Amino acid sequence: MKLFIDTAIIEEIQTAATWGIIDGVTTNPSLIAKAGKDLVSVIKEITALIDGPISAEVKEGPAEAMVEEAFGYARLHPNIVIKVPMTLEGIKATARLTKYDIKTNVTLCFSVPQAIAAAKAGATYVSPFMGRLDDFTNDPEAGYKLLEDIRVAFDNYGIETQIIAASIRHPKHVEQAALAGADVATIPFKVFLQMLEHPLTTKGLEIFRNAGK
Ligand code: E4P
Repeated sequence: MKLFIDTAIIEEIQTAATWGIIDGVTTNPSLIAKAGKDLVSVIKEITALIDGPISAEVKEGPAEAMVEEAFGYARLHPNIVIKVPMTLEGIKATARLTKYDIKTNVTLCFSVPQAIAAAKAGATYVSPFMGRLDDFTNDPEAGYKLLEDIRVAFDNYGIETQIIAASIRHPKHVEQAALAGADVATIPFKVFLQMLEHPLTTKGLEIFRNAGK
């Protein structure tokens, strides 16, 4: 499973780039707002730090407007992936961008039929949102189940659209993404750090540190 970092904060990406395990970056309008910079400057900075797919999200609107905006971002760097909202206009824009060989990531996916529509439009990636679905359904396995179902549906037809497990809130989501066969997990900085922790690892280190004392 590839690991992307889900942030627009440059300092976090700089730090994560030194770990040697980051395959790409996803951003969204909330993350860009949190970073306090404009999308173009953030994207340019990220391309200098990470050599992998970098998702830049277009504003929701008519397909033509999203395609025009996408052209602007795609021109910035070959690694740019255009994040497109899961709407009818978004699907139309995805199909257009596919014809131009521009990579896309259809975001805000919460069902198998939505994922199928994205794949049919030629999306490079589709992003099912685990955390938001778990919250909405009050079921800690709802996102997991959705990923499993999309995996089965895609494998039934040899669909090549890659599944990005998104809206990850904790290490358990990373585990569920891997068990469900997601191609990618996009993970917030803080969850990356939490993933490395286990009480028995901490205890084991203490035992080894004190050995022979
Ligand atoms: C995915 O690409 C999104 O940026 C992200 O995972 C959304 O997560 P949230 O539900 O924590 O906002």
